[in-house]
Amino acid sequence: MLVLQSLIRPEGQLELSLAEMAPPRIAEPDQVLVSMEAAPLNPSDMTLLLGGADLHGAERTRVNGLPAMVAPMPPGAMAAQARRVGQPQAVGNEGAGTVVATGSAPEARALLGRKVAMMGGGMYAEYRVAAASQCLALPSNASATDGAAAFVNPITALGMLETARREGHKSMALTVAASNLGQMLLRLCEAEDVPLVSIVRRPQQARLLNDLGARHVVDSSAEDFVPRLTDALAETGTRLAFDATGGGEMAGQLLHAMEAALSRQAGRAYDRYGSQIHKQIYIYGYLERMHTTLPPGLGMAWGLGGWLVFSFWRALPPERRAQLQARVAAELKSTFACRYARECTLQELLTPEALRQSVQMATGDKTLLRLAPG
Ligand SMILES: NC(=O)c1ccc[n+]([C@@H]2O[C@H](COP(=O)([O-])OP(=O)(O)OC[C@H]3O[C@@H](n4cnc5c(N)ncnc54)[C@H](OP(=O)(O)O)[C@@H]3O)[C@@H](O)[C@H]2O)c1
Repeated sequence: MLVLQSLIRPEGQLELSLAEMAPPRIAEPDQVLVSMEAAPLNPSDMTLLLGGADLHGAERTRVNGLPAMVAPMPPGAMAAQARRVGQPQAVGNEGAGTVVATGSAPEARALLGRKVAMMGGGMYAEYRVAAASQCLALPSNASATDGAAAFVNPITALGMLETARREGHKSMALTVAASNLGQMLLRLCEAEDVPLVSIVRRPQQARLLNDLGARHVVDSSAEDFVPRLTDALAETGTRLAFDATGGGEMAGQLLHAMEAALSRQAGRAYDRYGSQIHKQIYIYGYLERMHTTLPPGLGMAWGLGGWLVFSFWRALPPERRAQLQARVAAELKSTFACRYARECTLQELLTPEALRQSVQMATGDKTLLRLAPG
């Protein structure tokens, strides 16, 4: 079988190649062997796939007679990736396919012949072994394309909502809100009656979300971004935001605007330490790879942390995981639908033009990897 591998060579080059390997073997009774059919290229796959390589200098090559690609690693990226130099990495956080063999456990046997979605790494391959409990059995009317992205963004959207509720919030804000994830969270919040402040960076994305029914959309490229953000946070009473830009000013702008919104509340007495009401930002992506800066004037009751779907998922009890999976399966073609701008095979991906196009991470521009016909 073919497996996509990402290798950073000690001489400062990224090599993406297809390794020919024996299909993995079922080693435990609860495992299944999945013939992979489809997997998305998500922003969360990019660091492991590309390692920060400069794709402008990418060139085609061949490794062991199969298509491959090399690209130079800038010195800063090389330093950041030092711990993986010389170690080929299998890539792909999620994907879907058909179960073609199983272990002896009843939960594994029940999946034989079923289409399943999975999360867990190494999905850009023709076969993948997984525990039955790691698989989401897709509804009978769903294709592998429908299920390819059934984990990362759906569970993230559900996880953000669950995190908000656990921490006592009744509304929230999201940056990078026109993304596939942002549109899922918008539909989810609408269904659950949770006000969502959607922050985008272009007027066309604001129009897109307004057309989808979003009520609180703020464009960070607008001159009046900060007052409009403060208005939206004040109107919705929002003190929780998830930020995927990560680096730069956004986290600080959100905290500052939340504090300003609180100070507008009628009857609030002046406090030299700012409001005592907690405000929380979770960084859930680093689309801006720079230092995160915070201004003064935030008060003293705030938190800034990271949020990762894999940590959220691991910490859930099995019965809650099953409930979330059942909801994703039931709403796979509505709330959690994912559309693709293009499809390509593993071989087709390994050309500089196709790769550059597939890793742009722009709104409505996701690529689906076709791993086998299905
Ligand atoms: N922490 C977690 O567990 C977790 C889980 C799932 C997803 N995520 C993150 O969620 C984000 C969205 O994922 P997705 O799959 O939904 O994305 P997607 O549909 O592939 O869209 C990518 C989005 O990123 C925006 N973008 C790219 N570079 C940007 C920048 N420098 N500043 C602001 N926006 C930028 C694009 O906007 P333009 O059209 O303006 O370029 C586009 O809306 C990603 O950052 C991803 O890593 C995190």
